[in-house]
Amino acid sequence: MTVRVALIVGSLRKGSYSRAIGLELKAMAAPALELELVEIGDLPLYDPDLETDAPPPAWTRFREEVATTEAVLFVTPEYNRSIPGALKNALDVGSRPYGHSIWAKKPAAIVSVSPGALAAFGANHHLRQPLVFLGMPTMQQPEAYIGNVADLLDDDGKLTKDDTRKFLKDFMDAFAAWIDKTKA
Ligand SMILES: Cc1cc2nc3c(=O)[nH]c(=O)nc-3n(C[C@H](O)[C@H](O)[C@H](O)COP(=O)(O)O)c2cc1C
Repeated sequence: MTVRVALIVGSLRKGSYSRAIGLELKAMAAPALELELVEIGDLPLYDPDLETDAPPPAWTRFREEVATTEAVLFVTPEYNRSIPGALKNALDVGSRPYGHSIWAKKPAAIVSVSPGALAAFGANHHLRQPLVFLGMPTMQQPEAYIGNVADLLDDDGKLTKDDTRKFLKDFMDAFAAWIDKTKA
């Protein structure tokens, strides 16, 4: 049976390596997992004063899209040794109104991506902290730190190396098993 998974990319830029990796993961996970790219770039900064009967339409669109999925895959770069603000904002928007979080109990997995050698380790682990509070069972093993990413993608954003492809396919297979084991 196909499981619908929200794919959330922490970068907003068009040429994003993280987005390219996310789209490659989407292609290789099918048909067991149906990844739906959920955009976060248009979400106004979370402001409780906007949490009225008519919240910003982008918040509602985002909440509804994630709510229809059963799990979440985060693919993110690292900004200043943490997660990009846009991604933290998306987590905050999805966590409210209080008691109506779209994240609760959804299995999650994290892939961190960097052109640098440290592979966004800091972002990967900072993201785990809010996911604990949000009640998302987050896959611990295998971990995915994609460093030197510019060497792994061609000009069309496709993976160039068989060993990377195999590593990521194994990661997605493990995530499918993790979802099966942990979903509410
Ligand atoms: C504000 C800012 C902070 C950054 N900080 C880090 C960092 O801490 N660690 C890192 O590996 N790369 C850092 N970078 C470089 C990003 O990894 C690089 O821009 C990468 O391409 C962003 O991912 P994307 O291609 O998915 O947009 C930073 C970039 C920006 C714009």
